[in-house]
Amino acid sequence: MKLDLSTKIGTVLFKNPVLAASGTSGYGAILNDIFDVSQLGGIITKSITVKPRKGNPPPRIIETSCGMLNSIGLENRGIQYFLDENLPRLKTFKTNVIASIAGNSDEEYAMLAETLNKQVDAIEVNISCPNVKEGGMSFGQELHSTRKVVETVKAVSSIPIIVKLTPNVTRIEDFAKVCEESGADAISLVNTYKGLSIDIRSRRSNIGAFTGGLSGPAIKPLALYAVWKTAKTVGIPVIGCGGVMNYVDAIEFFMAGASFIEIGSATFREPDASLKILRGIKQFLEDENICCLNDIKGVIHEC
Ligand code: SIN
Repeated sequence: MKLDLSTKIGTVLFKNPVLAASGTSGYGAILNDIFDVSQLGGIITKSITVKPRKGNPPPRIIETSCGMLNSIGLENRGIQYFLDENLPRLKTFKTNVIASIAGNSDEEYAMLAETLNKQVDAIEVNISCPNVKEGGMSFGQELHSTRKVVETVKAVSSIPIIVKLTPNVTRIEDFAKVCEESGADAISLVNTYKGLSIDIRSRRSNIGAFTGGLSGPAIKPLALYAVWKTAKTVGIPVIGCGGVMNYVDAIEFFMAGASFIEIGSATFREPDASLKILRGIKQFLEDENICCLNDIKGVIHEC
């Protein structure tokens, strides 16, 4: 029996469903020093903005109980630097390249999407960053602004559009439905949960920008629930993200209905976590005599 882990978003084929999450592996090269990133299904870049951004004041990352709080503030060198300096190396890896984009306005999202169209395999529209004053999560917390930005990006793109959703809403599945109606080809969820950590001696936040976004094992059950609700609501592929630390977590996300998983915080603990998770998924499927992911996708007994 030959194991087939390939899966599609729109017309784009991915050799397997394991993706490096945005913001956790730079632009691929840094991970490739540790393992051959061409083995992954895809690499999602750190979010790219129109102009360079310096990001938020330090401390930007702290460890919390079973999790990690970050407030990077979308630091990056802007679209032109990405095209000139990062993309050529990224394209040498034999894996799909997904460019994450973040804007302050519909126009900025459109400019980024239009510029990247056909340069990369897909675009992840980040409307869920909790760490910036303008744009970011505010686009993903109102149904009408979500609809508008997705329609705007879709209108200028001929490659698949993935929308990354924030869990900082009451019913994430409603946002996913709006994305699907607006032409999104896939949904990724969840971005981080907005959080706070306090130094009781100084009575200050442990994060330079005061609040941050929580990721890691602490949020896994919440992310899994969000994926399960969303996968029942939309027909497009759902990419599960949030505390996937090992292959068991990954299989749970597939059983909740995810077609792909993104590995994020785990990479900070173990830089080759995504490769280990991929190997674990393969081993599990072989042990269970399962030849493709569809045989476990959304397969959970609900009573
Ligand atoms: C950040 O750059 O602050 C994190 C990005 C995100 O949460 O989307």
